[in-house]
Amino acid sequence: MELLDKLNWRYATKAMNGESVAEEKVAKIIEAARLAPTSSGLQPFEIIVVKNKELKEKIKAVGWNQSVITDCSHLLVFAAWDTYTEDRINYMFDLTNEIRGFKNEGWENYRQMLLGAYPQKDAEENFNHAARQAYIAFGMAIAAAAFEGVDATPIEGFDPASVDEILDLKSKGLRSAILLPLGYRNAENDWLEPLVKVRKSTEDLVTVME
Ligand SMILES: Cc1cc2nc3c(=O)[nH]c(=O)nc-3n(C[C@H](O)[C@H](O)[C@H](O)COP(=O)(O)O)c2cc1C
Repeated sequence: MELLDKLNWRYATKAMNGESVAEEKVAKIIEAARLAPTSSGLQPFEIIVVKNKELKEKIKAVGWNQSVITDCSHLLVFAAWDTYTEDRINYMFDLTNEIRGFKNEGWENYRQMLLGAYPQKDAEENFNHAARQAYIAFGMAIAAAAFEGVDATPIEGFDPASVDEILDLKSKGLRSAILLPLGYRNAENDWLEPLVKVRKSTEDLVTVME
């Protein structure tokens, strides 16, 4: 199947059947998220993989009681940095120097520019920027899940502060942004499964300026 066929196959699954997704498939989905581009390459988020039944139950209770949170196999929690700090910025720049094996003046100047701009900003503004980067990886994970024939439900319908508490994210300087349960559809019990996908037309989406 082509990527577009797989994107047509996927949908925001409303009912899952509890079947386990093989760890190799989950690893590929997470790898797609890891490979996502991010602003300045900072990857300002982490992915928490919740397999524990009790934790899933607790998250479901603050996640609009959406059944896929407990009936999924793996619940991915995309948690963004609560702000940009000097340490966090330096870590990624140092990692780049280490992996590439050289230092570059332009890159070091860019580091200083970010150090002079981000840590001083309002934490909420920084979190929102970081969360936008997490969404890019989230989109990659959704596409990768479809590619692997794994169902996934993008979820924003939850109380982030409660999830942060359940997973003790505050102590790690993280805030939950979005959830992605991975599993397999329970087609008979899913009202959405037989319905046609609805998207606005390409004409309404795209303006070409020649
Ligand atoms: C960021 C985001 C948050 C969403 N939150 C929820 C949610 O909490 N619960 C849910 O059932 N669907 C949720 N959806 C699914 C959308 O409603 C769905 O993707 C959209 O209607 C398009 O349908 P499709 O994904 O089935 O093609 C969310 C989607 C996105 C991208």
